[in-house]
Amino acid sequence: MKAMTVKFESQKVSRLYFTAAIGLFVGQIVFGLTLGLQYLIGDLVFPAIPFNIARMVHTNLLIVWLLFGFMGSAYFLIPEEADTELYSPFLAKLLFWIFLVAGAATILGYLLVPYAKLAEWTGNDFLQTMGREFLEQPLPTKVGIVIVALGFLFNISMTVLKGRKTAISLVLLMGLWGLALMFLFSFVNPNNLVRDKMYWWFVVHLWVEGTWELILGALLAFVLVKTTGVDREVIDKWLYLIITMALVTGILGTGHHFYFIGLPGYWGWVGSVFSALEPIPFFMMTLFAFNMVQRRKREHPNQAAVLWAVGTAVMGFLGAGLWGFIHTLSPVNYYTHGSQVTAAHGHRPSTAPTCWWSSR
Ligand code: HEM
Ligand code: HEM
Ligand SMILES: [Fe+2]
Repeated sequence: MKAMTVKFESQKVSRLYFTAAIGLFVGQIVFGLTLGLQYLIGDLVFPAIPFNIARMVHTNLLIVWLLFGFMGSAYFLIPEEADTELYSPFLAKLLFWIFLVAGAATILGYLLVPYAKLAEWTGNDFLQTMGREFLEQPLPTKVGIVIVALGFLFNISMTVLKGRKTAISLVLLMGLWGLALMFLFSFVNPNNLVRDKMYWWFVVHLWVEGTWELILGALLAFVLVKTTGVDREVIDKWLYLIITMALVTGILGTGHHFYFIGLPGYWGWVGSVFSALEPIPFFMMTLFAFNMVQRRKREHPNQAAVLWAVGTAVMGFLGAGLWGFIHTLSPVNYYTHGSQVTAAHGHRPSTAPTCWWSSR
């Protein structure tokens, strides 16, 4: 394997994270294909792996590899931006193994133990957090995620504090801290189904259409700085505009999930209006990528990275922005809610978070 060329030795911890991410991604695809085949052959691998279990493994693997990807990118990017070694490479390696073992144990738990038994064994009676899409993890895994996230945030925040502070690392830190804070709502699960759903969307929506967009923007900006050599002043201005638009539209845009869960009717208007504007920041990311590449001051040897950065921006716009817009207005969503339109949309933006690949 080609040696990883890095400016700072501690950036190399990112390789562990990228390797795990790719491994888990392959696992996710295997389960995705199984799911797809189960549409066609209803009793495929039944009763060993029923559809609902395979689906849970598929989506949980997705979240875990993405988190590995985000963390790996941060460990790669932050030392370079802060112009200093990582605060603690040891902590980064330790947390990696904790997260990998906890993640693997959770997936094995899903596959080997009936879900209700797993809930019983892992203290779900003590604090009920399980059984909600994407947040199916047993309580110890959820607590583990919080501990790993805090250790990770401590490590990269300390690195930024002792080094150079750039707009890119600031936005990345905001995104990652926001991601961790929003995850805390996964511990809030009131008996009232309306409030339960509302808090659930605080995690799911405010991740993908809030904090992840900041992370995406920062990773994209980093790759563009490196590959195009365009001045930081220009890149930073784009980044600030993009994340402002992401938050202005995305936060109240949460309302596009409040149409039919029992919340007040005004969410129909608030959700429709604000979420209809959500494609703007995604479109700006596309403009940003094309513009910077056009104004490039040098030809970077890694043209694949440039192409990937531009490509993910385009796919992110199509899948999230355009496909999102198609079903986001409440009168349209009335007919498409929870249909294959949703599932297809849930897949298309998945190409956007893979932005981190291009930072390799
Ligand atoms: C990277 C960005 C995005 C990602 C990763 C993403 C992902 C998803 C996923 C996985 C779901 C399904 C949730 C479930 O299981 O119920 C969903 C639902 C939805 N998304 Fe997105 N999304 C993104 C951006 C957007 C944008 C920009 C819009 C609007 C312009 C949008 C509009 C919607 C709507 C309306 C639903 C609800 C569908 C329903 O009623 O069943 N999404 N999204
Ligand atoms: C060969 C590739 C893949 C196949 C065949 C596949 C297939 C499936 C199937 C059949 C479902 C269940 C839909 C249902 O409940 O009816 C599903 C759900 C889902 N998959 Fe995949 N998948 C693949 C790759 C991916 C990738 C790469 C991602 C993201 C990085 C992803 C993210 C999701 C999400 C977020 C859901 C839940 C969607 C929702 O709630 O609407 N999948 N997938
Ligand atoms: Fe949303």
